This record gives sequence, structure tokens and C-alpha cells, in this order.
Amino acid sequence: MSKAPKKTGRAAVVLAAGKGTRMKSGLAKVLHEANGRPLAWYPIQRALELKCNPVVVVVGHQGDAVREKLESLFPGAPLQFAVQAEQKGTAHAVLCAKRALSGHDGRVLILYGDVPLLTTRTLESLTKAGRGKKVAFLTMRPEDPTGYGRVVRDAAGAVSAIVEHKDASPEQRQIRDCNAGLYDCDAAFLWKALKGVRTDNAQGEFYLTDLIAAAARAGEPAVAVEAPVAEVSGVNDKVELAEAARHLRRRLAEEHMRAGVTLIDPATTFLDEGVVLAPDVVIGPNVRIAGLSRIGAGTRIGFGSVITDSTVGENANVKPYSILEEAKVGDRAQIGPFARLRPGSDLAEDVHIGNFVETKKTKMGKGSKANHLAYLGDATIGSRCNVGAGTITCNYDGVNKLPTVLGDEVFIGSDTQLVAPVRVGDRAYVGAGSTVTRDVPAGSLALSRTEQVVKEGWADRRREAMAKSAPRKTAAPRKAASRRTRRGQP
Ligand code: UD1
Ligand code: CA
Repeated sequence: MSKAPKKTGRAAVVLAAGKGTRMKSGLAKVLHEANGRPLAWYPIQRALELKCNPVVVVVGHQGDAVREKLESLFPGAPLQFAVQAEQKGTAHAVLCAKRALSGHDGRVLILYGDVPLLTTRTLESLTKAGRGKKVAFLTMRPEDPTGYGRVVRDAAGAVSAIVEHKDASPEQRQIRDCNAGLYDCDAAFLWKALKGVRTDNAQGEFYLTDLIAAAARAGEPAVAVEAPVAEVSGVNDKVELAEAARHLRRRLAEEHMRAGVTLIDPATTFLDEGVVLAPDVVIGPNVRIAGLSRIGAGTRIGFGSVITDSTVGENANVKPYSILEEAKVGDRAQIGPFARLRPGSDLAEDVHIGNFVETKKTKMGKGSKANHLAYLGDATIGSRCNVGAGTITCNYDGVNKLPTVLGDEVFIGSDTQLVAPVRVGDRAYVGAGSTVTRDVPAGSLALSRTEQVVKEGWADRRREAMAKSAPRKTAAPRKAASRRTRRGQP
């Protein structure tokens, strides 16, 4: 049997098996969300940006849930999963990924699933420093190094080992240089070195940090690359989670502002990574733009709006408190306030959707308007139509969703029910208050309300009759009066 050719390039291993006890949660740590994405999304995304292939995620705690969630977030990505059933230490975790990397003979980038702030730039400086070397790793100088592995150097300054806090001598604990826990190494060296890792340490664990001593013993000391502490600190509890989310938000907000987007209040603007905002977009406070959303140049997004997986064209105005989900909005459209565009809403240029209008799987042509209180579902509406206040498409018969089709320049009077399936032809009028159950031909008027009846003087006569028959006002009985006083009422 001939062996499959070895793959070079760079693979990644993301360690995400830990429980995260300090989160005090029923949810695995790496599934907790920071700025709309689970923690593990970030290192995986960074690894994919560096073209790592495959990216092997080592899962343990709630492994199935973690896998399911991450697979759904990275469709089509070269993601693989390895299970570490029992957490026996970081070296053991990496060994669990060995099978998934059996054909790989290049570099291996090792990341943690709970370190979301790491930037591609820092990772690039790590991989660059490691080029042609057995191993490079990131270091940090935290305010308080307690708990971290310390970087021990020889007299010449070369890294000789990493000593875990619990194994460190008092002198070693004075060292400020700490191991951040992220490595870029040569695959062959990694697997060979991991074979020799033992558990003869204070915690009885397989330490991945033993790699560093192994490299020194092999006469090729590891290359240390210092990273900003904020970037490499992990999330261990919910205070750190909120802090990490705040950092992520701030960082993204700054990127967008530098690229020409106006954020009225960056601190309350919630943008997902990957959202595309053109220059001169203006975003009000308390706005969330999520998923695969794109907003065109000059468009304003008003206070309190939530936009998910939607595209908005140029110079549009999404007024406050509008909710868009999987919707498409054309140039110069006016949406809201208080509009709800549900999945499949596809609105052309210059469309107006006003307050308390809901659209779902509905296409509207150029310049059409539904300015107040309407439900438009499964509808295809031409251009320059006017849909009056209170118009409802009755699109559901209890079993099926049925279509409503309006031509161009159709006028639908207020409070109309369009009982689907139904078509209204070009230029047709539907009188206010109609229930339209049959197709309306082009250029015609449809009216279905009952004819108005007027009875002159009727109301005045009724009022008079009522006044005559009404009982005369008498004094309240004594008992009731005293009860009222007791309750302290006038
Ligand atoms: C590790 C390093 C330490 C470094 C610190 C930085 C070792 C032995 N020590 O500390 O030098 O200063 O990171 O944060 O590597 N994990 C697994 N399976 C396991 C153990 C851990 O998947 O069996 C994962 C955890 O979920 C976490 C990451 O590996 O994402 C780091 O584990 P953690 O226990 O936080 O790190 P330490 O071992 O304390
Ligand atoms: Ca840790």
C-alpha cells in the first residue's frame, strides 16, 4: 500500500476541551458568546484567515454541542474535530489531534479556544518568527504573573524551558515573562517531542510546555515573541467574558470609524465581525448589525435598530427601532420607524415602509409604499404602488402559504384584506375597506364593502330617547358612603 503524499503548509489545533469551571455555567466555556459569536469562533476564524488547513478543534466538555455549533458557523471550512474525553493536560489535548493530522507534514499552529482577542497580526509575527525553526511561541508580561508558566532563559538569553507556576522555585516565580500558551511548530518535531512528555510535575498533567525544553535540548531553542497581554489573556469567568466582548466591540468599531463609518456612540454599537459597512454610513446608538449584513454608502441606521443577515443599499434611511432579518433593501429606501422586515423581504429602490409595517417573503418594486400598519406576506408588488394603512395579505389558509400579486401603480385603499391567492392588475384601484377575494383586472376598480346607509336625525332621536328613560340620580345609600370614607376616598 502506498502512503498518501504528505501535506505541507500549516495546520492548526484549537484546544477547547476544558470545562471552564469558573464560568459557573451549564454551557461549555467556548460556547459562551462575546459580541455575537462563541469564544471558540475567534481563534478558528484567525486560523482560517492564516489559511490553516485543516483546523482541528479538540473538544471534550459537551463535545457534541461544541462541534455542532462550530460546524454550523463555518460551513465548508476545513474544520475537523478530535475528542479529548478526559482532560489530562495541554500536551495530551494536542496528542488527541494527531490522528486528524496524520497526513500533515508542515507547520502546526496551536491556539486556545478561550482566547478571542488574538489578532491575525500577532499570529503573523509568531509564524514569521518560527519560519524554519522547530518552535516559536507567544509570551506576555501580565501585571500579575501568578498562575502562568514562566519563561526560563539561559545565561545567553536563549529560552531553555517553561516552568509552570506550581512547579516554579521562588526565584523562577520572580520572572515576569510568561507563557501565553500559543505555539507555531514543526509537525515532525511536535509529535516526536510529545512522545517524551511525562506527568512528573506538581499537577500530574501532560504539559505542552515541555516542548520548549525539548527544543532547547535538541540545540535549537524556541523563539519567544512577545504579544500584548490584552490580546492573549483568556476568558475564565463572566467578568472576563464581558470585558473581552467590550474589547472586541471597541476594536471593530475603531476599524469601521477609520474606514469612514460614523458611529454616534461606539460603546453601544454592536457590530459582528464580517459585517460590511461602506464609507459615510451613519449608525445611531444602541444598534446591532449582525451576521452577513452589508450597508451601502450614505445610509443611516437609526437608534435601536437590529439588522441581521441583511443588505441595505446606498443613501437609504432605516429609522429608529426597525428590525431587519434576511432582508434586502434598495438604494434611497425609507424604512421605519418601527418597521419589521422578515426573511425574504426584497425591497427595490425608493421603497417606503412606514411604522408598524411587517413584510415577509415579499418583493416590492421601485418607489412602492406601505406607510402605515400593514402585513405583507408572500406578496409580489410592482413599482409605484401605494398600499394603504391597515392593509393585510391573508396569505395563510391554515395549511398553505398563498401568493398575492400586485401589478405596477396599483392603489390599495386603507383597511383592505387581500385574500390570497389573488392578483390585482396594473393601475387598478381597490376601495378602502374591501375584502378582495377575486382577481382585479388591470385598470379597474374593485370595491367589496357594503353600501353605506344614512338615516338622517337618527342619532339625535336616540340620544333624546335615552335621556328620557335614564334613571334619575339619587343620593347614595348611607352605608356605601361611609364605606368610601373609611377607605379614605373623597
Ligand atoms: C497553560 C500553560 C501555561 C500558560 C497558560 C496561559 C501548560 C502546561 N501550561 O496553563 O504555561 O501560562 O496556559 O494561559 O500548557 N485544555 C484542554 N485539555 C486539557 C487541558 C487544557 O483542551 O486537558 C485547554 C483548555 O480548555 C484551555 C487551554 O487548553 O483552552 C489552556 O488550558 P488551561 O488549563 O487554561 O491552561 P494551564 O494549563 O493552566
Ligand atoms: Ca488558563
